[in-house]
Amino acid sequence: MGREVVRLALDAGLDVTVLSRRPPSGTSRAHHDGARYFQADVTTGAGLAEALRGADVVIDCLEGQFGKARKNYADGGARLLAAASGAGVRKAVLLSIINCDRSAAAFYISKAAKERVYATSELETVVVRATQFHSLVAAVFHAGAKVRLIPVFKGARFQTISPSDVAFELVAEGMGEPSTERHRTRTIGGPDIRTMRELAEIWRKTTGHAGRIVEVPLPGAMGEYLRKGLNLVPSQRTGIDTFESWLAKREDSL
Ligand SMILES: NC(=O)c1ccc[n+]([C@@H]2O[C@H](COP(=O)([O-])OP(=O)(O)OC[C@H]3O[C@@H](n4cnc5c(N)ncnc54)[C@H](OP(=O)(O)O)[C@@H]3O)[C@@H](O)[C@H]2O)c1
Repeated sequence: MGREVVRLALDAGLDVTVLSRRPPSGTSRAHHDGARYFQADVTTGAGLAEALRGADVVIDCLEGQFGKARKNYADGGARLLAAASGAGVRKAVLLSIINCDRSAAAFYISKAAKERVYATSELETVVVRATQFHSLVAAVFHAGAKVRLIPVFKGARFQTISPSDVAFELVAEGMGEPSTERHRTRTIGGPDIRTMRELAEIWRKTTGHAGRIVEVPLPGAMGEYLRKGLNLVPSQRTGIDTFESWLAKREDSL
C-alpha cells in the first residue's frame, strides 16, 4: 500500500519521503525514482526526526501483524505522531481496517488501539478504514491453488477494494484543505459485495489456475467478524476497480 501511495503522490507532483526499516535499493522494483528514502523504525524511534524533517503530511501505511510487532503497533503510531508533531507536520492520515473496533481478533484489537492514538493526537488526523483488498483474497486463493485447493470461508462475503483506489483516497485526504474537525474517521469499500465463492470462481477463471473450490470454516473472532458482515459497507462503494478489472491489470497493479 505504501508503494501505491508513493506512486500516486509522485504522479500528483508532490515531494515524497518514504520511511521504513529496510528502504529498497535503487535497483529494486519497490523503489520509486523521485522519492527520498529514509531508514527509520517506529518501534525504537530511530531515524524518525530525520525522515520527518520538512514534512507537511504523514500517511501511515505501517503494518505490525504478529507477535511483538502487533503488540507495539499502537505505540509505534504514538511515536510516529510525536515525532511528526515535533517536526511541524500539520496532518496525519492513518490507513486502518473497517470495523476493527468491533472484533475480538488480536490483530483488529491492535488496529483499534492505534486508531485511538490518532484520535487523541494534537495533530489534525484522519483515519481511513478500508475493506479488505482484492490482493488479500487473491493471495488466499493463490496459496491454496499451490496444492490445487482454493479455500473459501463458509458464509463469508467480501467488498474487496483495489489498493490503488485506497491509495487515491489516502493521498486525497492528505492533500485536502485543513479541516475544522481535529479528528475524522471515514470508511471506504470496493464497488461490489460478493460471496467468497464467487470471488474464487472469478479468480480461477481469470488466472487459469486449476484447483477445487473448497468451503472451510473460519473459527474464532475473525470468523465471527466475517459472518456478521462487519467487513462490509454497502453505503460506501468508493472503489472503482472491480475484482475482475483489478485482476485483468494485475501485472502493473498491486
Ligand atoms: N490487506 C488488506 O486487505 C487490508 C485492508 C485494510 C487495511 N489494511 C492495512 O493497510 C496497511 C498496509 O498494509 P500492507 O499490506 O501494505 O502492509 P505491508 O506490505 O506489510 O507494509 C507495511 C510497511 O510497514 C513498514 N514497517 C513495518 N514495521 C515498521 C517499523 N517498525 N518501522 C518502520 N516501518 C515499518 C514496512 O517496511 P519495512 O519492513 O522495510 O520496515 C512496510 O513498508 C496495514 O496496516 C494493513 O493492516 C490492509
